Amino acid sequence: MASDLKGLEVILGVTGGIAAYKAVDLASKLTGEGAVVHCILTDSACKLVVPKSFEAVTGREVFTGLWSAPQEYRIGHVSLADRAQVMVVAPATANLLAKAAIGLCDDLLSTTLCAAWEKPIIIAPAMNDRMWSNPAVQQNVGTLRNRGWRFVGPAAGRLACGREGLGRMAEPAEILDMIRSVCSGS
Ligand SMILES: Cc1cc2nc3c(=O)[nH]c(=O)nc-3n(C[C@H](O)[C@H](O)[C@H](O)COP(=O)(O)O)c2cc1C
Repeated sequence: MASDLKGLEVILGVTGGIAAYKAVDLASKLTGEGAVVHCILTDSACKLVVPKSFEAVTGREVFTGLWSAPQEYRIGHVSLADRAQVMVVAPATANLLAKAAIGLCDDLLSTTLCAAWEKPIIIAPAMNDRMWSNPAVQQNVGTLRNRGWRFVGPAAGRLACGREGLGRMAEPAEILDMIRSVCSGS
């Protein structure tokens, strides 16, 4: 049976959370279902995972900088945003949520998110439980939800810092389900 994600143009933003390694699996699963996955990694993400991993699983160029625009497009962030049918950020750091909530554009991912505001945007936050419960973070989440952004997770469980709590990134399969449901309009 053909996947309902076949041919879907997805931008996968990866930020500097320890769960960034799980985003490789997400990129792989999306590609396996026939989606065209354009990955954007922040500088912090590149300290935790290597762009090559994403290149290997998607078979596509991976973008890491505002000034190293995609070769095939004129202005990277705008053309990527135009082309994508859905944008997913997994994992999303507290920093990314804060920047997005105020429309800050200081790197390729935040600038592309700003340009893609009319597209469906799915966020999979991941962070320490104290960071997640911080009122500033919750306020930013509220702002983005009110703007129509969809959140998946975070889940409760063992966190990278060794604590138990709410802050684990949703599993790739759950994020895929959210992408399916958003793209089918349900
Ligand atoms: C090892 C390590 C793991 C981190 N994990 C997280 C995390 O899971 N969630 C988070 O919000 N920040 C985390 N941070 C902090 C972010 O990397 C930091 O706020 C950074 O500025 C995020 O940049 P970005 O949003 O542009 O990727 C971590 C930092 C380090 C050094």
